[in-house]
Amino acid sequence: MSELVLAGQLVVVIGGSSGIGLETARRAHAEGADVVLTGRDPGRLARAAADVVALQTHAFDATDREALGRCFRGLPRIADHVLVTAGRPYYGTIADVDLEEARRSSDAHLWLPVAVACQAIGRVRPGGTLLFMGGTGARRPAPGLTFAAMGTAALPAMTANLALELAPIRVNLIAAGFVDTPLSAELLGGDLEQRREQLRATLPIRRVVGPADVAALAVHIMTNEALTGGTYDIDGGQQLL
Ligand SMILES: NC(=O)c1ccc[n+]([C@@H]2O[C@H](COP(=O)([O-])OP(=O)(O)OC[C@H]3O[C@@H](n4cnc5c(N)ncnc54)[C@H](OP(=O)(O)O)[C@@H]3O)[C@@H](O)[C@H]2O)c1
Repeated sequence: MSELVLAGQLVVVIGGSSGIGLETARRAHAEGADVVLTGRDPGRLARAAADVVALQTHAFDATDREALGRCFRGLPRIADHVLVTAGRPYYGTIADVDLEEARRSSDAHLWLPVAVACQAIGRVRPGGTLLFMGGTGARRPAPGLTFAAMGTAALPAMTANLALELAPIRVNLIAAGFVDTPLSAELLGGDLEQRREQLRATLPIRRVVGPADVAALAVHIMTNEALTGGTYDIDGGQQLL
């Protein structure tokens, strides 16, 4: 019988009631971990918690620093790994920008990882990892991508610097292209199926990347103790096109 790679470990997923976070929690639980899930919507969080037999849940907006601190102080024990999947990208041109919404997006994508890093000191074990989510889609400039590009560009540098400061806690970043999650479905609406078809036809891997693909990478990064400060692309070759 193969060994469970996360046996007895505590995995905290900030934004774990849907998509990549939920799928990673599911995989971590299957690999023997106890999981703690957070999210804003208590009903969605409760359903996800039942699905992955979560040890604990915390319903709060992760950009609320006080609430984030309460969550970390309330953890049942020192965490082994923390995955941050809360937040959503803001797409829009400068001519039409909703600056308040753009700021909320950067609160979650840029400042939340910093706030999690502050909380992690003394609450994540040496050799454990903080794992953040970024993207590959806004590496090439295009109208409407200014705000997404800010996160895409800043997160790898932030991750590398935090990896030095937080050592021996490891800090890593996953940069994803299109992932077929509820967030993608919401952003694309009626265009979702067309986008999937286009990706199946053009991506070098000839299929769409799903949350299970990202979850497998996340669990690998958690367990491979040689990895820190890195950015790991997972986009089925989308950025090559
Ligand atoms: N899907 C993609 O193609 C893709 C590509 C690159 C990067 N990403 C990034 O990867 C992350 C996860 O994406 P996903 O597609 O898995 O999204 P998702 O299906 O919408 O899941 C996001 C999770 O985070 C929670 N959440 C969102 N904002 C939050 C907040 N302010 N405080 C606490 N919890 C919050 C959501 O629950 P509540 O709404 O109930 O809070 C949900 O559990 C996001 O940061 C996204 O930008 C996604």
